[in-house]
Amino acid sequence: MCVVETMRVATVALGYLGVMSSVLADGDPEYGQYLSSECVTCHQAAVTGTIPSIHGMQADGFITMMKLYRSKQLENRTMQTVAGRLSDEDIAALAAYFSTLDPPD
Ligand code: HEC
Repeated sequence: MCVVETMRVATVALGYLGVMSSVLADGDPEYGQYLSSECVTCHQAAVTGTIPSIHGMQADGFITMMKLYRSKQLENRTMQTVAGRLSDEDIAALAAYFSTLDPPD
């Protein structure tokens, strides 16, 4: 392979990585839907008892709260445990998914 060709392959590969990382930063709603099966056992479309609905929540606020639970700056044993298992990508994906749902009335 000549140098020019090698450069072109490298550029294409870098471009691909760039696209991939921006998808992750924005959150992949399909991956979020997959991860959400655990959450929706508690978080239903409507508020149930002491459990708030997170359907239709703005992604920014969602991400902020999840990271505060993860770092234990927000009190709630359950949510601290749940958030503690999630990566930044997981949280971004969940935020992207829940923000697409209809908020409760
Ligand atoms: C075992 C039940 C349970 C599960 C499972 C659960 N949560 Fe929660 N979640 C709660 C409760 C209870 C609160 C309210 C905590 C409080 O009052 O501080 C809460 C609060 C939240 C909040 C803050 C909402 C607000 O408006 O204050 C977010 C965001 C959230 N959960 C996201 C998630 C996500 C995402 C998942 C799945 C990865 C999940 N939760 C799984 C019970 C649960």
